[in-house]
Amino acid sequence: MTLAVTGATGHLGRLVLESLLERGVFAQDIVAIGRTTDKIADFAERGVQVRAAEYEQPDTLTAALQGVDRLLFISSSAVGRRIAQHANVLNAATDAGVNFIAYTSGPHADTSALVLAPEHKATEKLLARSGIAHALLRNNWYTENYFQVLEQAKHTGLIIASLGDGRVASASRQDYAEAAAAVLVGEGHEGQVYELSGDHAWDYTELAATISELIGRPVEYRKVSPKEHRKILTDAGLPLAQAAFVVALDGNTRDGVLAETSGQLSRLIGRPTTALRDTLATVA
Ligand SMILES: NC(=O)c1ccc[n+]([C@@H]2O[C@H](COP(=O)([O-])OP(=O)(O)OC[C@H]3O[C@@H](n4cnc5c(N)ncnc54)[C@H](OP(=O)(O)O)[C@@H]3O)[C@@H](O)[C@H]2O)c1
Repeated sequence: MTLAVTGATGHLGRLVLESLLERGVFAQDIVAIGRTTDKIADFAERGVQVRAAEYEQPDTLTAALQGVDRLLFISSSAVGRRIAQHANVLNAATDAGVNFIAYTSGPHADTSALVLAPEHKATEKLLARSGIAHALLRNNWYTENYFQVLEQAKHTGLIIASLGDGRVASASRQDYAEAAAAVLVGEGHEGQVYELSGDHAWDYTELAATISELIGRPVEYRKVSPKEHRKILTDAGLPLAQAAFVVALDGNTRDGVLAETSGQLSRLIGRPTTALRDTLATVA
């Protein structure tokens, strides 16, 4: 059985490769597909088959997927380009005769108002149309997304956001990676839709208190309106489109789009998800 991972050069991909090896999958049965393959030369040295592919170049994908039975398809990071790129991956998987695909999607991608949902929704539709057996790994936010907030709070003692008391059921990349490896290796996941999130949904008052405890200094969470938030961000030099994106994400969070604690992630990995504090402590 040959198992492959796309986006293997990224943060999540590396953790999945490690998790597959820890589960006892033979290195030679793993195909790590990436664009900048020198980033995963260490896995090649351990016997993993490393193959180069570029999502924009269909031929490279078809070649990289030859002989693959089961594929973890990690979504591309090129927001705005993803539907075309993902279509290339799915066409290549069809041509190569891949039997099963697990795709890293977004929370309730088919119905969510999340600004990042449309590309995931379109990919899920393409996946359904491909006829390939599949599972959806609808990942909520990574706690690592908040490392930047911690860095800013260290320098300013302040967290500014327009998400009010919105909650985020984040989990660590390690948690999501272990779940992805479990689905890739395991049986009975065909047709499953997993809403994967942390066991606890925290708000920014808790985030500020946690960061404050970790850095040993007071941290204030200042709630601002969306309009004020956009102005603060553009005054700080962020291009208008990016500021609007951040404010829209905060609006989604305020509306509870990231708050669901389904328990499905901890069930898949067989342990509680990593607490907010524990992930933040790795960089504090
Ligand atoms: N749930 C969340 O909170 C969250 C947050 C951020 C991202 N995401 C999504 O989850 C995915 C994995 O997260 P991550 O932390 O591992 O992201 P990451 O470290 O940025 O990795 C992204 C991966 O996509 C690859 N990639 C990008 N464009 C490509 C292209 N044109 N052709 C081939 N490969 C390409 C990158 O290759 P290179 O190494 O060569 O650049 C890398 O392997 C992201 O891509 C994104 O879709 C989720």
